[in-house]
Amino acid sequence: MQNNMDLKSLDLKQEPPVKEPERQYYYIAKCRELVGQKAKTLGRSLTYHVTTFGCQMNARDSEKLTGILEQAGFAEVQDEQADFVIYNTCTVRENANLKVYGHLGLLKHAKKSNPHMHIALCGCMMQEPEVVEKLKKSYRFVDLIFGTHNIFKFAELLAKMLESGEQIIDIWDGTKEIVEELPVERKYPFKSGVNIMFGCNNFCSYCIVPYVRGRERSRKPEDIVREIESLAADGVSEIMLLGQNVNSYGKTLKDPVSFAALLRQAEKVEGIARIRFMTSHPKDLSDELIQVMKESKKVCRHLHLPLQSGSTRILKAMNRKYTKEQYLDLTEKIRREIPDISLTTDIIVGFPGETEEDFQETLDVVRRVCYDNAYTFIYSKRTGTPAAVMENQVPEEEVKSRFDRLLALVQENARAQTARFAGTVQEVLIEEVNEHDSSLLTGRMSNNLLVHFPGDAALIGSIRNVRLDVCKGFYYMGTLVSNL
Ligand code: SAH
Ligand code: SF4
Ligand code: F3S
Repeated sequence: MQNNMDLKSLDLKQEPPVKEPERQYYYIAKCRELVGQKAKTLGRSLTYHVTTFGCQMNARDSEKLTGILEQAGFAEVQDEQADFVIYNTCTVRENANLKVYGHLGLLKHAKKSNPHMHIALCGCMMQEPEVVEKLKKSYRFVDLIFGTHNIFKFAELLAKMLESGEQIIDIWDGTKEIVEELPVERKYPFKSGVNIMFGCNNFCSYCIVPYVRGRERSRKPEDIVREIESLAADGVSEIMLLGQNVNSYGKTLKDPVSFAALLRQAEKVEGIARIRFMTSHPKDLSDELIQVMKESKKVCRHLHLPLQSGSTRILKAMNRKYTKEQYLDLTEKIRREIPDISLTTDIIVGFPGETEEDFQETLDVVRRVCYDNAYTFIYSKRTGTPAAVMENQVPEEEVKSRFDRLLALVQENARAQTARFAGTVQEVLIEEVNEHDSSLLTGRMSNNLLVHFPGDAALIGSIRNVRLDVCKGFYYMGTLVSNL
């Protein structure tokens, strides 16, 4: 279903089709023609580089951008010295934005030495009007700017950009459309993300995602299953179902379906050995889901369950809709039903009004749940969110001290949790040659832990048994066990 349209058969003298995705295939063919002509004039192929910031959703979106660039005839290069550079941006915390401006400063110089260079920006940061104003004023060298809702129109915008010398800006406030079946170029041949829903309706008071990604929209289960089948046919054995709150999947569909029911359907797809998902909101995690995870041979032994804060008072101010006790009960139930599960989480420190007592509640939950890993964030004020105008912003020094104390506890727990598997044999999906030592391979266990072991690169993409010999804190050194 993907990459299957014959571009050569499209007649570019005709008007572009109105219907999607046909319209975008027309523009891919158009880009191909324009890129071909330019390459001929220059006597070399045109190159591209995609830089991705942010979460798994953005990573998946970047695979869609890459798919279109490849079909348009660009050749990928590993650095930003390219003819077309695109940043897929994130704005979840202030430092995500700062990174983009930092990179842009460097690109300005690169563009001076390559007159054929084009620069594009897309993603969540572009959905903020003040960002676009700033770019319009001070970053005139950026050629193309678009947002999250019209990413499916990338080919059309790219064609426009290649034909015009003007700065092109196209940002939508929202969309109900889900345009599928456009080309995708996966980063890994053996694993892939699969979007099951877009947007978020939760409006946690600190979070900008609902404003930049729009309202929650679920894909139809049959479309999702069809995509998983085609991935399996293409050699993918591990999929990750993606959504900001997968537990509320399907609630707004014409024929509502639960996330647990979707998992059951996904599990039936032959060739898929592992199923992961991101992210689960604790308020919507059902018993049915725990049951499916427990019974399943394919759903991985890993649950990412963001806590954000251990204080019921702060959770209320965050609009998270669960209490400390409800969260603890839930994690207890999960550990009771699925004892070998790894639990990971996200925690914010320094939310407005957080006192030392509130923070102690967070440490208490971390001690009790014993996370396998936790991503800890310093609260970042996002303009337009309710928390940004709350009083009692916590002084920076206090936040820093809390952050350091939390991190120390999280790391201590994670070491102990990681060590509990020492000496066992685990199935791992072999992902790559080790970055630092090419005699080693790196594989991922069902619980998301990594193990490095001697082996041949030909094994990449396969699932093998590996003995976990030495725990190195957050990962293992191991040995391949032959004769499965
Ligand atoms: N949808 C997911 C999270 C998406 S954002 C969920 O609800 O769990 C990923 C993480 O970034 C969040 O879990 C939160 O811990 C963190 N985050 C979001 N907004 C933030 C902010 N304003 N400051 C600091 N961290 C933030
Ligand atoms: Fe943000 Fe909350 Fe939605 Fe997650 S659930 S994306 S934290 S608003
Ligand atoms: Fe960032 Fe957008 Fe993801 S703000 S975390 S890239 S949804």
